[in-house]
Amino acid sequence: MDKLKFTEKQNELIRVFKQDKLKRLNVLEGSVRSGKTWISLILWAIWVATRPKDYLYMMCAKSLQTLKRNCLLPMQELVGEKYFKFSLSTKEGVLFGRKIMLEGANDMRSESKIRGITLGGAYCDELTLFPKDFFVMLLSRLSAPGAKLIATTNPDVPTHWLLTEYLKNEKLTDDLFRMFFHIDDNTTLPDDYVASLKKEYTGVYYDRFILGKWVVANGAIYKVFSDSPRSYDIKSSDLPSSFEYLNVGLDFGGNGSQHALCATGISHDMRKIYALKSERISAADMTPQALYKRVCDFCEDIQKRYGKVSAVYADSAEQTLIAGLRQALRPLGIIVKNSMKREINDRIRTTTMLMAGGRFYLVSGECQTLIDAFQGAVWDDKVIGKEVRLDDGTSDIDTLDAFEYSFERHIPQLIRSEK
Ligand SMILES: Nc1ncnc2c1ncn2[C@@H]1O[C@H](COP(=O)(O)OP(=O)(O)OP(=O)(O)O)[C@@H](O)[C@H]1O
Ligand SMILES: [Mg+2]
Repeated sequence: MDKLKFTEKQNELIRVFKQDKLKRLNVLEGSVRSGKTWISLILWAIWVATRPKDYLYMMCAKSLQTLKRNCLLPMQELVGEKYFKFSLSTKEGVLFGRKIMLEGANDMRSESKIRGITLGGAYCDELTLFPKDFFVMLLSRLSAPGAKLIATTNPDVPTHWLLTEYLKNEKLTDDLFRMFFHIDDNTTLPDDYVASLKKEYTGVYYDRFILGKWVVANGAIYKVFSDSPRSYDIKSSDLPSSFEYLNVGLDFGGNGSQHALCATGISHDMRKIYALKSERISAADMTPQALYKRVCDFCEDIQKRYGKVSAVYADSAEQTLIAGLRQALRPLGIIVKNSMKREINDRIRTTTMLMAGGRFYLVSGECQTLIDAFQGAVWDDKVIGKEVRLDDGTSDIDTLDAFEYSFERHIPQLIRSEK
């Protein structure tokens, strides 16, 4: 640890620690990539090293896998394997001779596991992503003398339980230490990397993940698109000659809504996506057979023009239709898979990131339903506590779903260079 160099902001935190000014609850909040997790791990390690060996300590993140990736491996790198060892299968680690329990907050069993134990300290990474019940239980277990919580988080909606019930709770003022980190505080990052990050976050995501503000999402979701819709156009003659994946997303319509299709190509380097064609099909009076025929025609056209369709990703809620479709598409050699249904906000964030980063294109004249869907989508201002895409029939959510099904499996690769 001798060769480590802290940023100015990180030094400020270490000074607070040295002056013994940490509180029972210590929360580092702010922008992405601002150096919160990095310094929190060092702080946690040096604090734990000063604490009694017979207490129990705990480290948690949303899941055990994210804990490993974001915290355990980096901490091992920072303090050395000699001082920190861990095993995910036993969910235990040893840090400077202290036993550390490891938990994923999203695992339902975790909450019951910590019931009844006494903790000497707890570490939480990305706290807004935790279920509140887990956090309440965790705090109630932090009962050993001098026990502390060290946590990091990005901001969320202003009505998030962490902000309203803890960070802004006046009754907790004496127990709480908050420190804000801005992305510009992380002077270890290359300037061009920071510049491209700032460009890729737009709208509410910019305010939250770059400026670090607890703000609500309102208005148009794809403002970055609507501001200059034509700038995303590409002529089919300018498309790459082949794609890594050529997927078709399909959302089945039901009462009142329409079926929606969208074909998307993903570049070989997994950095760009191309919406090739989108289409809506009226669901009224349509037999399953007629629907299969339309989907087959759509896929055949795509195959003729752009190459082999890798898979059709269809709305997983409709297993009977999927089974029928599988049969119908077999002669074309196309497989049908279930949509993954990743969290909608993760899909939206990926789309806006690709748009802002100049990594999203759509084929001129072929994607009108997708263009309309982008332009019509707004945040629901009636839902409090989290942001939700308005789905009351006034905008075309079906087409957005179909588009998202066509690439959602590849989101981790598509956003790899960002966050
Ligand atoms: N003092 C430092 N020396 C070297 N690298 C650092 C330092 N501080 C931070 N970093 C690096 O900067 C990057 C971002 O830091 P970190 O992961 O701590 O940010 P964060 O605030 O937790 O971001 P996020 O909100 O995205 O989780 C990481 O790659 C980290 O290793
Ligand atoms: Mg972090």
